[in-house]
Amino acid sequence: MSKNLKDLYINFFLSKEHKKLESASVIPENDPTCLFNTAGMQPLIPYLMGEVHPLGTRLTNYQKCFRLTDLDSVGDKTHHTFFEMLGNWSLGDYFKKESITWSFEFLTKVLNIPVEKLAVTVFKGNDVVPADNESAEIWMSLGIPKERISFLGEEDNWWGAGETGPCGSDTEIFYFRSDEEAPLKHDPEDERWVEIWNNVFMQYDRQADGSIISLSKKNVDTGMGVERVTAILENVDDNYKTSIWKDIIEKIEEISNKSYENEDDAKCMRIIADHIRAIVIISADDANIVPSNTDQGYILRRLIRRMIRYAKKLEIDVNSDFDLEIAKMIISKYEKYYPEVERNKTRILEVLETEKNKFSKTLEKGLKEFVKITEILKKQNINSINGKTAFRLYDTFGFPIELTVELASEQNMNVDVNGFNTCYKEHQDKSRAGSSQKFKGGMADHSEMNVKYHTTTHLLHQALKDVLGPDVNQKGSNITPERLRFDFSYPTKMTDEQKKKVEDIVNQKISEELDVICEEMSVEQAKEQGAVGLFTNKYGDIVKVYSIGNYSKEICGGPHVNNTKELGTFKIKKEEAVGAGVRRIKATIEI
Ligand code: SER
Repeated sequence: MSKNLKDLYINFFLSKEHKKLESASVIPENDPTCLFNTAGMQPLIPYLMGEVHPLGTRLTNYQKCFRLTDLDSVGDKTHHTFFEMLGNWSLGDYFKKESITWSFEFLTKVLNIPVEKLAVTVFKGNDVVPADNESAEIWMSLGIPKERISFLGEEDNWWGAGETGPCGSDTEIFYFRSDEEAPLKHDPEDERWVEIWNNVFMQYDRQADGSIISLSKKNVDTGMGVERVTAILENVDDNYKTSIWKDIIEKIEEISNKSYENEDDAKCMRIIADHIRAIVIISADDANIVPSNTDQGYILRRLIRRMIRYAKKLEIDVNSDFDLEIAKMIISKYEKYYPEVERNKTRILEVLETEKNKFSKTLEKGLKEFVKITEILKKQNINSINGKTAFRLYDTFGFPIELTVELASEQNMNVDVNGFNTCYKEHQDKSRAGSSQKFKGGMADHSEMNVKYHTTTHLLHQALKDVLGPDVNQKGSNITPERLRFDFSYPTKMTDEQKKKVEDIVNQKISEELDVICEEMSVEQAKEQGAVGLFTNKYGDIVKVYSIGNYSKEICGGPHVNNTKELGTFKIKKEEAVGAGVRRIKATIEI
């Protein structure tokens, strides 16, 4: 049904004159404040802020999203690390009336959800923005009774992706998930009402000081989670019992010879299924993410390790190909929707296998460490492993606390599990703080320096092709106001001479005071003109092409400076490897 839901949704909005966007990369482009896209609107921020989108003013898609702040909730029936968000957008085109009417039509006419099962919430207003009576009126005109409309405050009916940037009041749609008849009056506290769709009326831009100003256009941003709505349509209260997951869970039951009916085992099965799907999607992405100790690579590593730990818990032979088997099932489910999954099949399986082998070695090292620790303790007549040590085994060697307890009991020793939990919690708080740092802040930073670095990145890309050869391609880009970071495909370390040549070319082009020109054209035309395309699967029919004099031509959303004379002196600060065949340059421009 999940397949169906995505197709039904996209087709419905195509029939309302929307254009379909391909899902963007899992990594937000040019946005260092965020590790992964967390909502369908995120790649569209520049357009919500007023940029013209090459596909027009009505867009729809399903977007690859991750929400990782709740990693520990994964394992219950409803949480996932990776999920797909369906969305439709109006960029200054239609507003509340059409948005609400179409949502209602899709739910009741296409998905055939009875209106008796629906309730909605709207914004009750605050000192700055009045109550959204308009949305309430529209809902009533469609047949939602007054009692089923709740007016709520900012915590419920206001949405923005970050602390600054595009935001607005929203109207949320709820479905009554129960065999009982839905009460006439909507009670927001009653958990049987489950949110299924969020329509945000993005007409404001939140400033760093907390105030809001009006955007140049009134936009609509909606989001609907595929797994949740699929569960509703298939009438189950456990996402993992839907057609999205059923065969995967059955496969894990078969491999482990355990039953999903046992809640402890079910939890492990959900984690294994969820994490392998996330691993497949992350490693398939054209951003070329590989396991590492930082940023997205670290998340990938954690997911693989966590998945293996839970497989061990289910007594699965982790040296077998169980994970590859499951990954292959997931690939075959998703390749139709994400061409990169199809294209990068081999890489996905390699990433999984290599990291698993590495982790097995770490576990072995951990066992040696464990023996060393217990010998020392025994000599001192201590028969308890303290919380800190247990946590070190967990953190450095990936030892789940259960494993430490089990191994200790074989040596007639105890483990201070409470002490372990305290250390664990402290660590978790720290890493949460770390990740919320990543999530807060301006989403699309169009500060002057960012724009400058963005243009410099184009010059660098072309200069690298000139010096290292035409096969050099962008693998990722990350810009802060302090520097640019550019990942590209190239097998070996650059020599000092090559780096110098690249620097000289970029500086030469800057000094030539080249105009930066933006043109819109078809993808075909762009290709004919030799424009460099970065992530080919994400373009619509019409694209923007930025030319820098006659030197560089790239398909890109912008924004850019008008002339290279606005840039400063370009300097490569660092060149290093970030994965097999991928190099990274960090560089600055100094004024
Ligand atoms: N951006 C909103 C959300 O994530 C609607 O898509 O809920």
